[in-house]
Amino acid sequence: MLIKNKERYTGREITSEKDYMRRRDFLKLSAWTLTAPALAPVRLFASDEDKNKYTALNAVRNKAMSIGEKPNSWTEITTYNNFYEFGTDKSAPSRNSRAFKPRPWSVAIDGLCDKPGHYQLEDLIPAKKLEERVYSLRCVEAWSMVIPWIGVPLKNILLKAQPRSTARFVEFTSVYRPSEMPGQRAHILDWPYMEGLRLDEALHPLTFLAVGVYGRVLPNQNGAPLRLVVPWKYGFKSIKSIVRIRFTDTMPVSTWQRLAPGEYGFYANVNPEVDHPRWSQRRERRIGTFFKRETQLFNGYADEVGALYKNLDLEKWY
Ligand code: MTE
Repeated sequence: MLIKNKERYTGREITSEKDYMRRRDFLKLSAWTLTAPALAPVRLFASDEDKNKYTALNAVRNKAMSIGEKPNSWTEITTYNNFYEFGTDKSAPSRNSRAFKPRPWSVAIDGLCDKPGHYQLEDLIPAKKLEERVYSLRCVEAWSMVIPWIGVPLKNILLKAQPRSTARFVEFTSVYRPSEMPGQRAHILDWPYMEGLRLDEALHPLTFLAVGVYGRVLPNQNGAPLRLVVPWKYGFKSIKSIVRIRFTDTMPVSTWQRLAPGEYGFYANVNPEVDHPRWSQRRERRIGTFFKRETQLFNGYADEVGALYKNLDLEKWY
């Protein structure tokens, strides 16, 4: 993700105290992440063998729900990340997330539902029920990757809580743990990271809750121990390290929308026809390849999800 620094961080405009502190923290964080590689040169030595350090998971590939392309390498998937809780550059999450403890973990499911509760991760997503799905993740910055996720359809989890007929949206909250997440010690974003989906989007069979990647449990930098994957939306909707899922009748405001509402909307559907105000969304670069490719409407899932947006002006509701 790109932070719109022209207005927010130049200091040329009159700056509120909150914005001033945020800017100072952003600059501090940038300086710190720039010096980090010298201190912790993990990325230089990252290899696909690193995968063997993570617990293996059993899952059968759901071929009907997978794209036929070859996945990116383990190293690409785990060292080129956006996870601002661990820093703002792409290599920061893999370097700075080693102190994060994703277990034990519980998730609160509450709001407009008949069976709210606090669930231990293992009870919520039993290891026996996992499946693998290969999706491409299209980032709003116009790059993409092919990732073999392991997890369960989000729908299975949501229906356990019995959402009420008044529930229209689902709001997700990431963990807030500044002692283990150095990025949260700066005010770059309004912590904790928040996201939302319309209930029918959340219940769509493509919407996935991942606990693993490449046959292993999720590494911290990829959103351990559980994160959302919504393959027809820009990557920032795929919120990581979720601690709360809330049913609501009001459209949630996501973290990026709050920071820059003119740039990041609630829907964030992949759409080559609707440019980001500062760059085109027509094409994308698959990490690891040289030539750009055409971006597909809804990231190639127009047949599956088009009906959800039949009466929606996609220019207005970007
Ligand atoms: N979730 C949290 N909590 N914090 C973040 O900074 N970044 C988002 C999303 N989820 C982010 C997050 C963005 S911008 C992207 S592109 C994807 O995570 C990247 O997921 P990946 O690192 O597994 O590819």
